[in-house]
Amino acid sequence: MSATEADVSGLLEEAVKSGLSRIAEASDLASLGQARAAVLGRKAALARARSALGGFDAEQRRELGRRANEARARLEGALEERERAFRAVEEKKRWEQERLDVTLPGDEPDLGGLHPLTKTIWEIVDIFVGLGYRVADGPEVELASYNFDALNFDSQHPSRSEQETYYIDDEREVLLRTHTSPVQMRVMEASKPPVYVVCPGRTYRRDVLDPTHLNSFAQIEGLAVDEGITMSDLKGTLQAFARELFGRDLDIRLRPHFFPFTEPSAEMDVLCFVCRGSGCRVCRQEGWIEILGCGMVNVPLLEWAGYDTERYTGFAFGLGAERVAALAHGVPDIRYFYENDLRFLSAFEGGMA
Ligand code: PHE
Repeated sequence: MSATEADVSGLLEEAVKSGLSRIAEASDLASLGQARAAVLGRKAALARARSALGGFDAEQRRELGRRANEARARLEGALEERERAFRAVEEKKRWEQERLDVTLPGDEPDLGGLHPLTKTIWEIVDIFVGLGYRVADGPEVELASYNFDALNFDSQHPSRSEQETYYIDDEREVLLRTHTSPVQMRVMEASKPPVYVVCPGRTYRRDVLDPTHLNSFAQIEGLAVDEGITMSDLKGTLQAFARELFGRDLDIRLRPHFFPFTEPSAEMDVLCFVCRGSGCRVCRQEGWIEILGCGMVNVPLLEWAGYDTERYTGFAFGLGAERVAALAHGVPDIRYFYENDLRFLSAFEGGMA
């Protein structure tokens, strides 16, 4: 029995009614996709109504066809409207999730910094570079001939003993340098005067660690050899250096001392930058603070280098970087520089010594 016009009308009404409620039930784009397939698909009421049209005459078919198209248009309109609504919700959600406020400050990375000792060394080296010195370096594993012999240490000098020096070999010909003076010998060996060098570097001594001693430490030494160099050049240079490092108005004084490689030799003190001479805890009531060793280059060293000792004279000086850095920063124990405690190290961030 073929379908009547009423049957098809009923089917179309049913298709629209159930279709609209199916569409209304969809809760998101995915379930709306399923609703679309159910409402407009081949097994849907609408499709069944359409396939029944073939059995009607032309006029009825036109009329029922128009109504089927209307039904389809209503369903498609409803689908489209829901889809637009779901897309709007989804888009809003994405805007929320992916919101980016480009005006917010960025996450600042933790920047490392130069170690306070490195800063002190660079600052000291800079002062001498400013005075026309060039920087030289040499091996940390050194020959005893450069570390001691060339520097006029006699064969029985106590520094040569195994209690004071780390030797590499049994013959005691190779060692960890005990000072950076051998660098200056190497420079003199390799070049003719005038010589103006500053030599920063790591040095080693068999010392027991305490607040003022390390068995590996940094030295900065300097050497000037030229025509007509006198003790007053030494004093003027060191005075300029001390004022630059510790303060414009601080005097220095030289006290007689002994080193095998300089003659005469002296130790240089700077006026205490805390009490300015009256005596305090920092200078241990001395009024002066010992900074470095120095002197006029001993003639046997110039001869060793093959320099004309009638024509050339020179001066040299050497200091311990940890001691100077500790003084400059009021650090009570030089071992702190090597403990790598960030709370200590970050106190020196920014700026030089
Ligand atoms: N080399 C000496 C030391 O290690 C320092 C120094 C250098 C003294 C140059 C005088 C002249 O103690």
